[in-house]
Amino acid sequence: MNSLIIYAHPNPKSFNHAILENLEKTLLDKGNSIKIRDLYSLGFNPILAAKDFEEFIKGNIPADIKIEQNNIDWADHIFFIFPIWWFGMPAILKGFIDRVFSNGFAYKYTEKGPVGLLNDKVATIINTTGGNKEQYIENKFKEAIDITNDIGKLAFCGIKVIEHKYFYGVPMVSDGIRKEYLEEINDIKV
Ligand SMILES: Cc1cc2nc3c(=O)[nH]c(=O)nc-3n(C[C@H](O)[C@H](O)[C@H](O)COP(=O)(O)O)c2cc1C
Repeated sequence: MNSLIIYAHPNPKSFNHAILENLEKTLLDKGNSIKIRDLYSLGFNPILAAKDFEEFIKGNIPADIKIEQNNIDWADHIFFIFPIWWFGMPAILKGFIDRVFSNGFAYKYTEKGPVGLLNDKVATIINTTGGNKEQYIENKFKEAIDITNDIGKLAFCGIKVIEHKYFYGVPMVSDGIRKEYLEEINDIKV
């Protein structure tokens, strides 16, 4: 199985980075081939610009986008690791989706409506939050984030989300709970 990890956190000492390290180990232990795209370390340019549209219209794909589309083509299973920032994903990852999941690559418009083109792939999303679980469930924060990411981005492109994990209250919980969170990564569906 080819597993692509798309990772968006600027701090190599963050809890998200610990998740990345554990997931990398879990996937390798289970015999997967992996590629990691650490968007901040790569300095990925997240701005979908006029010149990108000019290239798309000419039938060209800008080189930095093409590299990431080739990685997605290669992948059977795409893992996203990111913290919830302002009820969404860090801007660098949102910009990655804007530029890489482009019309004609990730989806297309047909007479019957938009159709996803990445139907041979599955995805797992791993999120950390500052808020606690009760807030996320009672106030429907989780539901809102599930709809905008699992459905509005990935299912729209034909990608089935097989697992969406939330590690709640990361800055507030004890070291013991954070350790338990990391152990859960060992049991992730791969
Ligand atoms: C810019 C920014 C925005 C944030 N917005 C939210 C938010 O909307 N909801 C939430 O639960 N936590 C929010 N947080 C808290 C982070 O989700 C939390 O600190 C992070 O998931 C913990 O993981 P880390 O230690 O790897 O950064 C925000 C943090 C930052 C820096």
